[in-house]
Amino acid sequence: MARPERQIILCQSFRVDGDKKGLCHKQTDGFLQYLEEELLDRGLDCLVTATTCLKQCEKGPIMVIQPENWWFKGVNSEEAIDTILDGLEDGEPAAEYLLSA
Ligand code: FES
Repeated sequence: MARPERQIILCQSFRVDGDKKGLCHKQTDGFLQYLEEELLDRGLDCLVTATTCLKQCEKGPIMVIQPENWWFKGVNSEEAIDTILDGLEDGEPAAEYLLSA
């Protein structure tokens, strides 16, 4: 099986020990499926991964695209995902959601 061109990391607030904390998992219900469907529709070769806390809780929900290393904040709607994927297709990160270093 070929390796994907990109990995999209969606914070799901997992903690190594104990219950989920932070807001990412609370504001992204159904987003994993939506993201997978959008990627298929757009023909984008990306592996979607749900992760532990990305240590940016106050700016969440957080989504990261690698290898570009684009970090996005406030990804709390399908519209936000659409805008970010539009930017990926255009080769530019969606500025309104971009998390500055
Ligand atoms: S729970 Fe998502 S960044 Fe901490």
